[in-house]
Amino acid sequence: MSEDRAMTPAWYIVGRAGQRIGGIRKLTLRGVPYVMFTGADGRAAAILDRCPHRGVPLSLGKARGGRLACAYHGWEFDGEGRCALIPALGPGGMPPRGACVEALVLRERQGWLWAWQGSGEPEGDPPEVPGHGWRGWGHGRFSRILEARVDEVIENFIDCPHTGYVHGGLFRTPADHEAVHHVRQDPSGVTVDIEEEARPRSLLGRLLVRSGVRVEHVDRFLPPATVEVGYRFGTRWEVVGRQTCTPMGPWQTAVHVDVAWRLSPLTPVLAPFVALVGRLVLGQDRAILEHQARHLRKFGEQFCSTEADVTNLWIQGWRKRWAKGEPRGTRHGKTVRFRL
Ligand code: FES
Ligand SMILES: [Fe+2]
Repeated sequence: MSEDRAMTPAWYIVGRAGQRIGGIRKLTLRGVPYVMFTGADGRAAAILDRCPHRGVPLSLGKARGGRLACAYHGWEFDGEGRCALIPALGPGGMPPRGACVEALVLRERQGWLWAWQGSGEPEGDPPEVPGHGWRGWGHGRFSRILEARVDEVIENFIDCPHTGYVHGGLFRTPADHEAVHHVRQDPSGVTVDIEEEARPRSLLGRLLVRSGVRVEHVDRFLPPATVEVGYRFGTRWEVVGRQTCTPMGPWQTAVHVDVAWRLSPLTPVLAPFVALVGRLVLGQDRAILEHQARHLRKFGEQFCSTEADVTNLWIQGWRKRWAKGEPRGTRHGKTVRFRL
């Protein structure tokens, strides 16, 4: 799905907060190349990777003193994309109108560095991620680049039926029990409440689900490209995983994972275990998604869906309307039953 940046402005994670960029770093966001460097204020800056003079990639240049100098004729740009010096005109020379470069608005929140991609001022702040800095919660995070389209990556994160196969034995087993899925959508996204009628016979199922304890499982698609998976075990235990996707190019997606847990009394000691399981799970998803992407590129998109794909179909519909600038989704819901 191609997205028009002007119609679909949004915040995307582009790195970690507080990072100092020595020299320059390339960044691609929805197919648009940018170049990052450290601005005069010591913070990360990101400007379009195209010199307004003769169109050379600015990423060939050098960053120094809070500016980026083009490799061709030495024009210098500050972190807001303004042309600060044209060497051929001398120190007092006035840059012509049109000598500036598009700059991304960058903002730090809860340890992530976010970029606002869209014309005009950002609409609100970057979203809050669960668990980071919350009292009584453990939190961990990691990032990976997947050679796959953002639509399939989103589908994978919200999709339950694959878990018994791709992650077989870890947090589910192949389809062996009924589950009721209440899917609903509104302008803020798509949510699915999942009622499972059996305790999963998997490693994580055995560790986390004690008999007689009620399990609440709610997954959410949050625009533009985030999936949050939440489990509540009784009143005291809770685990939330949020996958925030940054579409870099049509076939490349950066995935930024925040995992938060409240599993008293083990909360403080679980970080290494969660990190291990999180990386293992994402590695399994990455392998299948990259195989799928190679085949989609070869054979094109010919899908055949069932009731078990309803949540994803609604998400893709939501995203298509959003990409076209249409109303994002009326409020409605549906209940489907299928085996997990
Ligand atoms: S092309 Fe960049 S300064 Fe000429
Ligand atoms: Fe998965």
